[in-house]
Amino acid sequence: MSSLIDFDPDDLITPSNYGLSGQPHEIWSQLRKHSPVHRIESSSHPPFYAITRHADIMNISNKPNVFSNGEGPMMLDKPTTARRDANPDEFGQMRTIIEMDPPEHREFRKVASGFFTPRSIHRLDEIVSECARAQVDKLGQEGECDFVEQIAQRHPLRVLATILGIAPEEEDLLLELTQQLFAGDDPDLQREGEDRDEATRSLLADFGALFTRIIEDRRANPTDDLASLLANAKMADGSAMGPIETFGYYLIVFTAGHDTTRNAISGGMQALLENPDQMRRLCANPELAKTTVEEVVRWTSPVNYMKRHLLEDFELRGVKMKAGEELVMYYASANRDDEVFDQPFQFNIERHPNRHLGFGTGEHFCLGAHVARLSARALFLELANRVEEIEPAADPTYISSSFVVGLKTLPVRYKIRPAA
Ligand code: HEM
Repeated sequence: MSSLIDFDPDDLITPSNYGLSGQPHEIWSQLRKHSPVHRIESSSHPPFYAITRHADIMNISNKPNVFSNGEGPMMLDKPTTARRDANPDEFGQMRTIIEMDPPEHREFRKVASGFFTPRSIHRLDEIVSECARAQVDKLGQEGECDFVEQIAQRHPLRVLATILGIAPEEEDLLLELTQQLFAGDDPDLQREGEDRDEATRSLLADFGALFTRIIEDRRANPTDDLASLLANAKMADGSAMGPIETFGYYLIVFTAGHDTTRNAISGGMQALLENPDQMRRLCANPELAKTTVEEVVRWTSPVNYMKRHLLEDFELRGVKMKAGEELVMYYASANRDDEVFDQPFQFNIERHPNRHLGFGTGEHFCLGAHVARLSARALFLELANRVEEIEPAADPTYISSSFVVGLKTLPVRYKIRPAA
């Protein structure tokens, strides 16, 4: 296998490059073919191995004792230490399940995993469908809008806020928080007059105050939402979950769940606009919403990558990686791997089987995958039933982020039927 590839490593890493041109599929195709375990050295980041094939990501994800999450999943993350006795405003100490390894990770994941099973999530069916209907109703019968702002971001926001016990009038704070945390390199999304760290701290403080109110209320008046479960959670030894961990859990569910689902929905609509035959198929057969969502997650891969840190030496495809080194698993690349997908560059809403890695796999498989599926499915179903015409109204723009990736704007012109 040769490595005759010439590319700028920044195209794989730098948020603003994703902001200009989206995901670097041409480079990944070359890497999958010629150098699937490729050492990347750039002036801006510590060196890492880029992992681009589906089979290798499966292999790595199933070995959490070798490939650790302990130093964080993002390329620039720094290690932190958790303390159970700290105050919720000591955000620097906060650590969430995505930064833990077994056995600690399993203990913490178990706290909420019962809430996220398909059977348990089923009880959200009605709320999610009503929410999808209300979002589409708001568009009126015809007009132009930014699909990201009006639909893709509002729908998952309401669904997650419901799970977390947040009132509709407090949703805007949540929206700002997630934008700041995940797309903070994008100047359009930053708070005016503040630097990024300052803005993040001040948003976290606002969110911390809201969270404290909700958690105290759920301790006194538990309901069947996730906020109540987290507020009253016990660890395996019977002790209460510490305040930092409770806040971290609450925060990761929201931040991991919002932008990802928003970007899947907006990227899915973009793919349908670019493939009018698929849009016609979906509108003629709304029951295809289920397979559409799987294809949308494969196609958009909103979580572009996850980083792992080697705890011991490991050889993969002849490349000897050393303990202490890092690797980055590009899910978006694995989801175009022709060893697994027939015609991977074709958007096909009836693709079956569809063994995409958009939700990851193994130890850290997305905890909210069923929520994401349910909420995206309800929206595509609603649109399939009601869209008479929809077309681009201007070019889309991309978020400057290389971690949770996707569209910043998607202007559309539409005609919509009233709900049946
Ligand atoms: C289309 C939407 C979504 C996508 C593409 C997505 C993708 C992912 C991926 C790739 C991972 C890491 C998997 C790994 O390392 O193997 C992950 C983890 C996670 N996701 Fe999602 N996600 C989505 C929606 C959600 C939602 C709606 C929630 C919550 C309601 C959520 C909560 C989480 C949590 C808590 C983790 C960490 C799990 C762990 O470390 O054990 N995600 N997600």
